[in-house]
Amino acid sequence: MAVKTIGVLTSGGDAPGMNAAIRAVTRSAIANGYNVKAIYHGYQGLINGEIKDFTTESVSGIINRGGTILRTARCLDFHTKAGMRKAHKQLKAAGIDALVCIGGNGTLTGAKCFAEEFGVQCVGVPATIDNDINGTDETIGYDTTLNTIMECVDKIHDTAASHERIFFVEVMGRDAGWLAQCSAIAAGAEAAIVPERETDVDQLAQYIERGIRKSKNSSIVIVSESPECGALHYAERVKKEYPQFDVRVSILGHMQRGGSPSARDRILASALGAFAVKAIKDGQHNVMVGMTNGVLGLVPLAKAIQVQDKSDKTLLYLVSTLSM
Ligand code: F6P
Repeated sequence: MAVKTIGVLTSGGDAPGMNAAIRAVTRSAIANGYNVKAIYHGYQGLINGEIKDFTTESVSGIINRGGTILRTARCLDFHTKAGMRKAHKQLKAAGIDALVCIGGNGTLTGAKCFAEEFGVQCVGVPATIDNDINGTDETIGYDTTLNTIMECVDKIHDTAASHERIFFVEVMGRDAGWLAQCSAIAAGAEAAIVPERETDVDQLAQYIERGIRKSKNSSIVIVSESPECGALHYAERVKKEYPQFDVRVSILGHMQRGGSPSARDRILASALGAFAVKAIKDGQHNVMVGMTNGVLGLVPLAKAIQVQDKSDKTLLYLVSTLSM
């Protein structure tokens, strides 16, 4: 059956550049003769039938806006077959023949299950600040967030140096250390603590002491968020074991997810959104669009969501070498 109408949704944590992706999907689809229906509040909205016709004007003036105009949600109902059945009914009732799902790991997993269980033609677009998806060098939102963190750490540097303090700065990415290790390089931090590698406090103290011996009067350590081993955990341990250091913690939190997307994220989102429509036109399903070495490509959703250690030892080594 030929596709007439394409649905588009965003789900999971918002990421800067999602709007640029929605715009690209909408306008490329219309340019290719498809109708577009937008689904609000992700899979939850699909279950509830929150669906609206979109025109080219619906996506005017959004390329520069952070967040997602379609809103988003983390939907537990969609994890069940009953939930997916309700969503499928709504999809049929709205006459949607193919679905573009923009989001991170959870969103792409949902798309895969929906494609497999109900034969829906799903194409995923990777958008998450965490950059933890296979089949693309970068996910939409990662670059903007990295720049936000870098700017914050630059500011923290000023006060750290003035007071001669050690700062533990906590960044997002509970399962992936990309934001921590790359912001540490970009902001010239002493160390990065990432979920993929074990860090012991002695080793950390060595970096800090080394810096102080070399006449640095302050240090910054970037820590990936973690319920048990976040910035507070390391700060407490260093304080206890090395009372000579004046230690502070700064948790950047959700401000990292907001803000206007960088040029790089807008361009990536535009290219991936348009390519998702091409994938639908080519009859592809159960795949994700991605960009590797500057080339657009497709990867099965099952492969895109595989948990893999994408962290790079050489980058962590770089943090430590360059902070000498
Ligand atoms: O997956 C994106 C992300 O921002 C993670 O880095 C973070 O752990 C999580 O979402 C936070 O989720 P929430 O906004 O639901 O607290």
